[in-house]
Amino acid sequence: MRWMLNAGRRASCNDKIDKVIDVSRAGDIDFAIVWRPMTMVFNRLLLAAALSLASIGHAHAQLRGHGGPVRAVAISSDGKSVVSGSFDTSAIRWSLTRNVALQVMRYHDGAVNAVTWLQDGRVATAGAEGKVALWTPSKQQPDTVFEGHSAPVVSLAASPDGKWLASASWDHTIRLWPLVAGERRVLEGHSQNVNGVAFTPDSRALVSAGYDETLRIWPIDGASAPIVCNLPTPLNSVVVEPDGEIVTAGADGKIYFISAQGDIIASVSASPAPVIALAASSDGHLIAAAGIRGSVGVIDRREHKLLRTLVGPGLPVWSVAFFPDNKRLVTGGTDGVIRQWDAMTGEPIDSAVVDAPNDPLAAYANDPGARVFRACVACHALQPDEDNKAGPNLAGVMGRKIATLPNYRYSEALKHMNIVWSKKTIAKMFEVGPMVYTPGTKMPEQKISSEEDRRALVDFLARATATK
Ligand code: HEC
Repeated sequence: MRWMLNAGRRASCNDKIDKVIDVSRAGDIDFAIVWRPMTMVFNRLLLAAALSLASIGHAHAQLRGHGGPVRAVAISSDGKSVVSGSFDTSAIRWSLTRNVALQVMRYHDGAVNAVTWLQDGRVATAGAEGKVALWTPSKQQPDTVFEGHSAPVVSLAASPDGKWLASASWDHTIRLWPLVAGERRVLEGHSQNVNGVAFTPDSRALVSAGYDETLRIWPIDGASAPIVCNLPTPLNSVVVEPDGEIVTAGADGKIYFISAQGDIIASVSASPAPVIALAASSDGHLIAAAGIRGSVGVIDRREHKLLRTLVGPGLPVWSVAFFPDNKRLVTGGTDGVIRQWDAMTGEPIDSAVVDAPNDPLAAYANDPGARVFRACVACHALQPDEDNKAGPNLAGVMGRKIATLPNYRYSEALKHMNIVWSKKTIAKMFEVGPMVYTPGTKMPEQKISSEEDRRALVDFLARATATK
C-alpha cells in the first residue's frame, strides 16, 4: 500500500483508486540503480560477448544469433516474423515459421534499444547513439535515418494511422517523425529519461512514461496541453489497450491501470523486482510484464490479476511481445536468446515443437562441434542446395576466399580482404571476434572463449561443409 501514500503526496492527475490488489511484495531494487550501470557494463562487455557450450541448448525453436542481450522484440502483424534489437549493436529479422535469421541490420553505433514494425512492412530500429533508422526488408542499409536525439533512444511506437513514428529518449524528450507528410516535432516536459511511448488506438494522442515518475498524454494535434499524471515510482514501459486504457509499470514491479483521461484505476504487483518491459495482447485480455530478475508475469487485464509467471533461466528479461494469436509470447533475454512461450500454460514452447526432421543439426546429435554450431545455424546453411539465410551458405567454405559466394550480398569491407577460410582462420575469427578479424562485417559480434569449443566447431565445419 506504500504507493497509495506516495501517490497522494503529489498527485496532479485524478488518482481515484477503485481497486488495489497486492499479490506479492513490492520491489525494493530501484531500477535507476540497476539499469544505467547494467547498460554501461553491457556496452563494455560487448566485445567480450562469449559463447560457451554450457549456454547452448538443444531446442531449435529458440532463436540464437545475437552476441549480447536482446533488448527489444516486435512481432509482425501476420505473426510470421520477429525483429529483435540487441546490445551487440545489430537488429535481426527472423522467420518464425522457419526459425532462421533472414536479415542482419547493422547501422547503429551502440546497442539497438528499440524496434518496431511499420504498417508498410518496414522496420524501425533505434540505437544508443540516438538515431532512428527505417529499413526495407532485404536492403543492406536503412532507407531513412532520423537524427536529433542527443542521448539513447529506448522506445519506439508507430501510430495506427501510419502517419507518425514516435521515439522516446534519455535526452528527456520524445520526438515525432512524420512517415507520410508533416513537420518533425519535439515534445518536451519530462524532467528525466523517457523510457516508453505508445499511441492511443485512434492515433489522436501519444502516451509517454518517464523516469521522473510521470505519465504524460500528449494530444497529437497539439491543440491542448498534455495531461500529466504522477505515479509513485519511476516508469520503464507503457502500452495502450484497444479500448484506450493505459497500462504502465516500472521500478516498484507493479502494473498501473490508468484511464484514457489519466485516472489511476487499479494496480497489481507483477514482479518482486523492477518491470523492464510490458506487452499487451491485441484482444485486450492479457498483459505481460518482464522483470529484471528474469521472470515474466502474465496478468488478466480486466480482473487486474496476476495469472501466472513464466520462469526462464533467471537472467533479466529485457523485452517481450505477444503473437497475434494472443496466446503465445516471445521474450528477449540477457543470454542473447529469443524464447517462445505459451502464455496460457506458462511453459516454454521449444521442447514441444522440436521435430527432428526439420532440425538441420539432427544428424549430428552427439557431436560437440554441432552443439557449438547451434549459435550459428539460424544464419548459416550447410548444404549446397539450401538458400542463404541471413549469412552466406557455408557449404564448401574451407579453402574459399572471403566474400566470394555468388548470390550473397556481402558487406563492401569484406570484399577487399585477403582471407581464405580454413580451420585455422575460422577458429581465429571466433577467438578474437568477427569485428576485430573482419572489421565492417554485419555478422553480430560473438566470441568462443574456449579453445576446445573452437576446435570442435572447426572440426565439425570441415566435415559438415565438405562438398563432394
Ligand atoms: C545473426 C546471424 C549470424 C550468426 C549467428 C553467425 N553469422 Fe556468420 N555471418 C553472418 C553474416 C551476415 C555474414 C556476412 C558478413 C558480411 O557480409 O558483412 C557472415 C559471415 C560468416 C563467414 C564468412 C563467410 C564467407 O563466405 O566469407 C563465416 C566463416 C561465418 N560467418 C561463420 C559463422 C560461424 C562459425 C558462426 C557461429 C559461431 C556464425 N558465423 C554466426 C551472420 C551470422
